[in-house]
Amino acid sequence: MPEAHVQAPAPDAPDLAERYQATRRLSEALCAPLSEADATLQSMEDASPAKWHLAHTTWFFETFLLRDRLPGYRLFDERWPFLFNSYYEAEGDRILRTRRGMLSRPSVAEVLAWRAHVDEAMTPLLRDPTVAGLVTLGIAHEQQHQELLLTDIKHALFENPLGPAMWERGSHGLLPNVGESNWLEHPGGIALVGHDGEGFAFDNEGPRHRVLLEPFALADRLVTNGEWDEFIADRGYSTASLWLSDGWAWVQREGVAAPLYWREGEHFTHTGWQPRNWQAPVTHISYYEADAFATWAGARLPTESEWEALAQGEDPGGGNQLDGAIAPLPRGGSGLFGDCWQWTRSAYLPYPRFAPAAGAVGEYNGKFMSGQFVLRGASCATVRGHSRASYRNFFYPHQRWQFTGLRLARHV
Ligand SMILES: [Fe+2]
Repeated sequence: MPEAHVQAPAPDAPDLAERYQATRRLSEALCAPLSEADATLQSMEDASPAKWHLAHTTWFFETFLLRDRLPGYRLFDERWPFLFNSYYEAEGDRILRTRRGMLSRPSVAEVLAWRAHVDEAMTPLLRDPTVAGLVTLGIAHEQQHQELLLTDIKHALFENPLGPAMWERGSHGLLPNVGESNWLEHPGGIALVGHDGEGFAFDNEGPRHRVLLEPFALADRLVTNGEWDEFIADRGYSTASLWLSDGWAWVQREGVAAPLYWREGEHFTHTGWQPRNWQAPVTHISYYEADAFATWAGARLPTESEWEALAQGEDPGGGNQLDGAIAPLPRGGSGLFGDCWQWTRSAYLPYPRFAPAAGAVGEYNGKFMSGQFVLRGASCATVRGHSRASYRNFFYPHQRWQFTGLRLARHV
């Protein structure tokens, strides 16, 4: 694959074309260290091949912008929408999600040629204000897939007993504030949460609405690897009383005894197996593990409204987030954003008066509001500028291949 060095788009770059191009180049730069075989691997049902991410994000622009909004555009290959439509029922049939690893063709080079073709064809639309909202959605969509690409390939490389490194070095120095955790207090009351409509947001972030908060406090930093070691040493994984019933069943069924990617004093990273730093935030934990740890620590998980009420005054572009094609790893530091997505105890549900957008893009978020939990913040694999105080990430409670972590909360 071509070598490319690019920076993530600036959070508020005024020029849509500039943000589009920077986003497209970053996806390709993230895949530059991968071989054709690496890029084709699908290591589990939840993950997709890197090549599929490169193609699917291109399908999104070709379908919803070029096909629908550019008169006379002809598809690059009429067979490919079947391969690279993810879950849009309105867009017709598609290969099973679990079969994405069977796509030995098209090659990475053919997918890159498709990307170049689509980027060229997009040129007039990037200057058309009537489609700017859809282009912005396509950029945010590709940024989400950049994070998935990183977490999916990490899992695939982890499955290889050789423990291949995708990059030689990362930006792995610890940031300040890894000492004792302090509490950030909030007096409670009626708070306004949800996106206010200024600038881009996904549909699931609105409408803005009132919530009633009791007085609470959030920890000013994430739970660390060292604290997780204490939980393990205190038999946290074998003490049933700490666990939700579903979580206890999951621990027993899967034989879970540590976060994903842990092996004695090491953990697997994009730079291969590395010593674990006890001061760095713990990551790759499930909702069940986060909840059990909070119970063990005499605390609880935050609700998403509590988290948002405190985050509204903070810079969402702060903390350890992705600034280019380098190995992501949690590094600590203060602030509510960065390092790890933080599990909340809030079920992922529609806000009052929520209505999905019309058409196929209405399938983006709303239809997944069943059985998942909300995560807040941003991770070291989230492109800086992508997240917001109102941003709602969501995963099933057993899933832990994302950069998921934990910030404790308590009643005041
Ligand atoms: Fe997608």
